[in-house]
Amino acid sequence: MGSQNALDVVIAGLKRLEYRGYDSAGVAVLADGGLAAAKKAGKLANLEKELAERPLPAGTAGIGHTRWATHGGPTDANAHPHLDNAGRVAVVHNGIIENFAELRAELAERGHELLSETDTEVVSHLLAEAFSSTGDLAEAMRQVCRRLNGAFTLVAVDADAPDVVVGARRNSPLVVGVGDGETFLASDVAAFIAHTRNAVELGQDQVVELRRDGVTVTDFDGNPGEVREYHVDWDASAAEKGGYDYFMLKEIAEQPKAVADTLLGRIDGNGRLTLDEVRIDASALRETDKIVIVACGTAFHAGMIAKYAIEHWTRIPCEVELASEFRYRDPILDPRTLVIAISQSGETMDTLMALRHAREQGSKVLAICNTNGSTIPRESDAVLYTHAGPEVAVASTKAFLTQLVACYLVALYLGQVRGTKWGDEIHSQIRELSDIAKQVDQVLETMEPVRELARSLKDKNTVLFLGRHVGYPVALEGALKLKELAYMHAEGFAAGELKHGPIALIEEDLPVVVVVPSPRGRDVLHDKIVSNIQEIRARGARTIVIAEEGDEAVVPYADHLIRIPATPTLLQPLVATVPLQVFACELATARGNEVDQPRNLAKSVTVE
Ligand code: F6R
Repeated sequence: MGSQNALDVVIAGLKRLEYRGYDSAGVAVLADGGLAAAKKAGKLANLEKELAERPLPAGTAGIGHTRWATHGGPTDANAHPHLDNAGRVAVVHNGIIENFAELRAELAERGHELLSETDTEVVSHLLAEAFSSTGDLAEAMRQVCRRLNGAFTLVAVDADAPDVVVGARRNSPLVVGVGDGETFLASDVAAFIAHTRNAVELGQDQVVELRRDGVTVTDFDGNPGEVREYHVDWDASAAEKGGYDYFMLKEIAEQPKAVADTLLGRIDGNGRLTLDEVRIDASALRETDKIVIVACGTAFHAGMIAKYAIEHWTRIPCEVELASEFRYRDPILDPRTLVIAISQSGETMDTLMALRHAREQGSKVLAICNTNGSTIPRESDAVLYTHAGPEVAVASTKAFLTQLVACYLVALYLGQVRGTKWGDEIHSQIRELSDIAKQVDQVLETMEPVRELARSLKDKNTVLFLGRHVGYPVALEGALKLKELAYMHAEGFAAGELKHGPIALIEEDLPVVVVVPSPRGRDVLHDKIVSNIQEIRARGARTIVIAEEGDEAVVPYADHLIRIPATPTLLQPLVATVPLQVFACELATARGNEVDQPRNLAKSVTVE
């Protein structure tokens, strides 16, 4: 809402947010006393083509949407915005309206004709009805929101209220941008960062009315709403490709900096950790008798690695659970349980619901998150931000490495606060950690053979990944990256588990990636995995071995050897994961796949 051509602003914003969903795209603008809309199945480029062929009139207020389909397939009709029958109201929506079937039946009874299979369309009809009786779009939105169950971010315009855009939020993200004579709404600040870095974080169950000269926020009953204003500390260039072919390549390359930034200011001159942001007081941390980590996907793998570090350095029992499973099994939680929720976006619905459940049971929640102003940190007792900067590629890379750094920091900090017998080790690990960015950089400099290997495997159907100890979650992460990017069958196993079944999968020339732990320190572990490599090689596997520089024991059994710098065992995932990211990215490219926007996925999963 402002004085610029709204369509240009909206399309540019959608381009930055397309990674959140790319099943279809649509826009609506208020112009010439009316409302004009266009929408198209498929990527944003399809919509742009449509707009080039059939331009919309120019206006200074508009809305837009890219969709990740939940209710109804990715068709033109199901694309947002959805209009009322008179074509005066347009609505875009993220989330799921759970009671839509009942509302739809009610609307049909009153003579409304619904044209899509979506849950969203009911909102445009309800909003049109409410607006015709109130004449106030924000009030109409409040009335409608009171009737909706589920999770929703809604943004709407009405041709009869040409100076207003309204938004509403329950559970899904929605951020306001306040510029000079113009205001913005988006699910991520990246959409409007080219226009303003002044943002306002909306709270739960709030309605916002945007006008050119400012915004008004209320709750769903019309009471003034509390909001938090903040300044975004990165600019538009951080959300651009910067000369790389894909965001994923750029984000892989940014990892040394992301790791260093996440450590910045958190280790003092005496080599002690100063995590002032962890506002949970030291005595509560000393009394913690159990830690539960909840997360999804890649963040879950970071959590699995954290468990090894936390239990070793703090001796506090630690469980890791997929957030989507957690609350449904009635987990045992109490005020002495510390729950750690890990999320890049800070909006993942499964993780959000898990943390709410934990807080309801009286547990303290610490969020590890990359997105300032997002819901998960806001609803947690404390937050440790990762400083990866905006991650745009759907496949998580730099966020993962920084999540690991944050997990190590938490584990070492807990060890420091509680004074475990590992005091010296904690001290030395803090030192090692403060140096690790250089090692990540070193790995990145030696990736050409990995890319070559990936290209040579482009016609394979299956790749297996094995690891032990912290190498096991690394193997899972390598397999996940390959699945989501290369669309190949990929599985990660604990190497010791192979003989209990999966070894039957091994056949002639099957590529198997093995993450080998450091030969120093935990010798037994190293020797065991060397035996596992021999077992699979004896059965015809093509072994791709990721091993520390100087580890000569693996050389006779490696068909391909990928070297990584020597690190302490617990920190090894920070260097061992990088070749797997490069491997998956290159294989996906070789197979002609869309690296930044793999099929069927979306960056922020704001539905359960
Ligand atoms: C995989 C990937 C996903 C996310 C998961 C959690 O590359 O990106 O598995 O890790 O959806 O997302 P966040 O961290 O935003 O909660």
